[in-house]
Amino acid sequence: MEIRLKNLRRSYGKLHAVEDVSLSIPSNTVYGIIGKSGAGKSTLVRLVSMLEAPDSGEVYYDDKRVDNLSRKELIEERRHIGMIFQTFNLFSSRNAADNIAYPMEICHMDKEHIKKRTEELLALVGLERRGNAPISTLSGGQKQRVAIARALATNPSILFCDEATSALDPQTTRSILALIKEIQKKMNLTVVMITHQMEVVRDACDRVAVLDSGRIVEEGKVSDIFASPHHAVTKDFLSSLTTVRESIIRWSKEGGHYTLRFRGGKTDEPIISAVSSATGAIFNIRAAGVQTVDGEELGVMITDIGPEGEVAESAVRMLEEKGVHVEESGEV
Ligand SMILES: Nc1ncnc2c1ncn2[C@@H]1O[C@H](COP(=O)(O)OP(=O)(O)O)[C@@H](O)[C@H]1O
Ligand SMILES: [Mg+2]
Repeated sequence: MEIRLKNLRRSYGKLHAVEDVSLSIPSNTVYGIIGKSGAGKSTLVRLVSMLEAPDSGEVYYDDKRVDNLSRKELIEERRHIGMIFQTFNLFSSRNAADNIAYPMEICHMDKEHIKKRTEELLALVGLERRGNAPISTLSGGQKQRVAIARALATNPSILFCDEATSALDPQTTRSILALIKEIQKKMNLTVVMITHQMEVVRDACDRVAVLDSGRIVEEGKVSDIFASPHHAVTKDFLSSLTTVRESIIRWSKEGGHYTLRFRGGKTDEPIISAVSSATGAIFNIRAAGVQTVDGEELGVMITDIGPEGEVAESAVRMLEEKGVHVEESGEV
């Protein structure tokens, strides 16, 4: 579904939370709306998702105007919408499957159908066999997967994500973004991704609008905005990205049993060569890079160390003696 906004405004007292926003969000895309805290993102989402009426302006889903619907029509039209939030908003008294089933129960769907559809949705979000899990036993990423499955239960055309990854660590963020992109394609969804993180825009969105003090200050294809940002706010968002950017280059999808982390000055020393010649260990390096976090350079290397057993173990010991942080298995 295409979403069109015409001259939307919403004030709270004297505060203009959304100020003359006009936008066209094409169907079948992941569309980012980025802005700092207080920029008006959540207010805009509430207007676009019909949770709140604008003071003035119009909202269209395809060619249908939806900002002035009767209560009955509103309930009908809201079936086209799924929403997920930073705080997940799951029922802690229900297990994963019963959370997903909830919107279908509300619609009085057939019990057998609900059961079957819930299984499908669990599989879609990568939580097969976790249906019985109490919410409290799930990680943040798993909770968001349940929330995504629940949002998709009634087959919506539009998915709103309001800061959906803001409570998650970078690795989980990437996996959730990958899932949302995959689902977007599978279900031909229009995804509206609200965020204050430029890496979310970079990793997930096709287009982006930059919101500042209730106004859209820049809009375009993500690649164009990254290549030539115009507005100061956009440039600000991009520069925050370079200070925390993870510039790790992975040239092999396979292997990589060890993750080595080097701090500060250690990034300059020929530690790998030293350890290799002292122990006879062979390093097969799968990925490496340096990232600057808070002004400090951190080196990361993903590698296999062979031969397995004593040689690898003594190599790991020697790395640790040299102040390298070694983690076994896993992704960066
Ligand atoms: N229900 C409300 N009543 C009064 N002020 C509100 C309300 N909702 C939002 N605001 C104000 O509107 C501005 C935009 O808020 P919000 O849309 O939540 O921004 P964001 O999601 O970008 O952080 C903020 O100054 C906020 O305090
Ligand atoms: Mg918000």
